[in-house]
Amino acid sequence: MQVNDNTFLITGAASGLGAATAERIVSGGGKVVLCDLSDAVEAHARSLGDAARAVRGDVTSGDDIQAAINTAIELADGRGLAGVIHCAGIVSVAKLLDRDGNPADLDAYARTIQINLVGSFNVMRLAAATMASNSPGADGERGVIINTASIAAFDGQVGQCAYSASKAGVVGMSLPAARELSRHGIRVMAIAPGIFETPMMQGIPDDAVAALSAAVPFPKRLGKPDEYARLAEQIITNPMLNGEVIRLDGGIRMQ
Ligand SMILES: NC(=O)c1ccc[n+]([C@@H]2O[C@H](COP(=O)([O-])OP(=O)(O)OC[C@H]3O[C@@H](n4cnc5c(N)ncnc54)[C@H](O)[C@@H]3O)[C@@H](O)[C@H]2O)c1
Repeated sequence: MQVNDNTFLITGAASGLGAATAERIVSGGGKVVLCDLSDAVEAHARSLGDAARAVRGDVTSGDDIQAAINTAIELADGRGLAGVIHCAGIVSVAKLLDRDGNPADLDAYARTIQINLVGSFNVMRLAAATMASNSPGADGERGVIINTASIAAFDGQVGQCAYSASKAGVVGMSLPAARELSRHGIRVMAIAPGIFETPMMQGIPDDAVAALSAAVPFPKRLGKPDEYARLAEQIITNPMLNGEVIRLDGGIRMQ
């Protein structure tokens, strides 16, 4: 699978990892549909020129994601949707019991699962349905799906029951989805980022960022969004990457 001349759907593309991935794909000669709840997605698509389109949409909505896929099919001009890089997600922190011993809010837990896990399944099922009818390329390849997990799927911290469970669900879907979609020539991968410098992390105080950076074996800093985008590009172009979750974290193991 090449980036040049192919069309990709990127969710969560108004910001952070998704926005950087859109830039890298366009600079590699690809075309992108940027899907995000935020209206900032329109300005980001405009900044990328004719190779980009914006679709405001919620990853948990079948209609919204189908509309984004339809836009990608139009933009692809007969070549079909080549891949999805699914970056939309939310972070949440809540302890099982608060300091007075009251139980956590169940709706808040369900919301994190709905957006991060059910949203990933929604994007994957609709993208796969479209890509299965693409003309096969080299090795019979028809498409690639890249989901975004987190190192919290493996090293969840106190307060991360919902976030860790949602991302562990993304990890858990990778192999069965890759096995099932193999007969259509569609690969499924996930990236599990460590701590990246994106708006999601902007609320963290400077001293906490310094402590997190110091905890990374090498390099001692937060990840840059383009480093995520470079791994997404490698996954797109390397056909042997399938059914696996790659940690991208400088070696950090959260305590
Ligand atoms: N930044 C990190 O350190 C880090 C670490 C591990 C995993 N991640 C994961 O990477 C992904 C991207 O995170 P980021 O750091 O770029 O965050 P970000 O907040 O900068 O970007 C996330 C984007 O997703 C969009 N979004 C949220 N809910 C949505 C929905 N229901 N439908 C459509 N769009 C929606 C937001 O509007 C936002 O533009 C997330 O899944 C996040 O959990 C991030």
